[in-house]
Amino acid sequence: EQVWRKQMRDAHRLVADLYHEVLMKTEAGEVGLTYLRDRDLAEETIAQYKIGFAPDQRRFTVELLERRGFDLEVMVEAGLISKSKSGEYFDRFEGRVVFPIADRDGTIVGFSGRAIDDRQPKYVNTAETPLFNKSELLFGFSQARATMRKKKRVFLVEGNVDVLQVAQAGTQEVVASLGTAFSPQHARALSRIVDEVIICYDGDHAGQEATQKVIRLLEASPLDVQVLPLPEKTDPDDYIRQHGATHWQQFIETEQLSVLDFMNRMYRRGKNLNREGERIRFIESMLEEIGKTNDSIRRDLYVKKLSDEFEIPLETLRSRIPRPTSSES
Ligand code: GTP
Ligand code: MN
Ligand code: MN
Ligand code: MN
Ligand code: MN
Repeated sequence: EQVWRKQMRDAHRLVADLYHEVLMKTEAGEVGLTYLRDRDLAEETIAQYKIGFAPDQRRFTVELLERRGFDLEVMVEAGLISKSKSGEYFDRFEGRVVFPIADRDGTIVGFSGRAIDDRQPKYVNTAETPLFNKSELLFGFSQARATMRKKKRVFLVEGNVDVLQVAQAGTQEVVASLGTAFSPQHARALSRIVDEVIICYDGDHAGQEATQKVIRLLEASPLDVQVLPLPEKTDPDDYIRQHGATHWQQFIETEQLSVLDFMNRMYRRGKNLNREGERIRFIESMLEEIGKTNDSIRRDLYVKKLSDEFEIPLETLRSRIPRPTSSES
């Protein structure tokens, strides 16, 4: 194995340990700890995910790594520090609460840093590096692993803080993709461990669009998909802080929607189903979704539902369900 690769891993472990210690034990980290406490995150959760704080100094990490004998060029490539055009090294996450991001084995390979004041951008994440491949990594994966195995399911959320809050509320089987799109590699990694993905994205328009994309992507996978819809302008973090863990536990078991129920809601939105044209388009969209459903019982139930609601004979609807175009047979 290449020497630089080991260096990158060692440096990440060192830096993560130190940022965590700064957060928990030093005066420089107090602002970070206060920030996390204000967001209702317990020390146990902070420890479990090894959250840290990068001191608000331009060269804290640079000097640490230099002192420990790391090659700073390699450290720039690892995304731990940056280098200016004039050749000066400087910190990347300074003044931010940092969330270590680990690969499947729990080896830390990157960070996500959140501003605790109004500096922009709100989040700075490690860019693509030889160790850090966003389309393969999921925040919280190593912490969620044991529970995912046991429960055979995983909750997929948008943000790091959502992961922490959901786990803290007792749902340890939770991960987030890193501010980027959920990828086929993510799906493959999860399908080795769980049978079911429950999408719990933010209750805004972007979250719903993203939910549809994940649904499309998972159509080709063996994973069962459910959606847990949140109220408008709410993410899992907001929801749990508003309603508490007990309510959350009840909510996640009772409010899950099947993909068809979710699509039903989506397609109805903004349509006036009293108008013939819009009604027909709605029915066609739903028939298309029904055609993609592998579960024949669910399919039949849905056709029946449409038949009852719109007073169209079952057979007429059935004959209009598009056949999957794939070459599965
Ligand atoms: P909080 O405000 O800390 O609760 O973040 P959030 O998770 O609610 O943020 P939001 O729903 O806006 O975004 C979801 C995820 O997208 C975040 O957890 C980040 O991973 C990512 N993200 C959000 N804002 C930024 C940004 O400014 N830059 C980058 N690179 N990623 C971001
Ligand atoms: Mn969002
Ligand atoms: Mn959010
Ligand atoms: Mn937000
Ligand atoms: Mn949030």
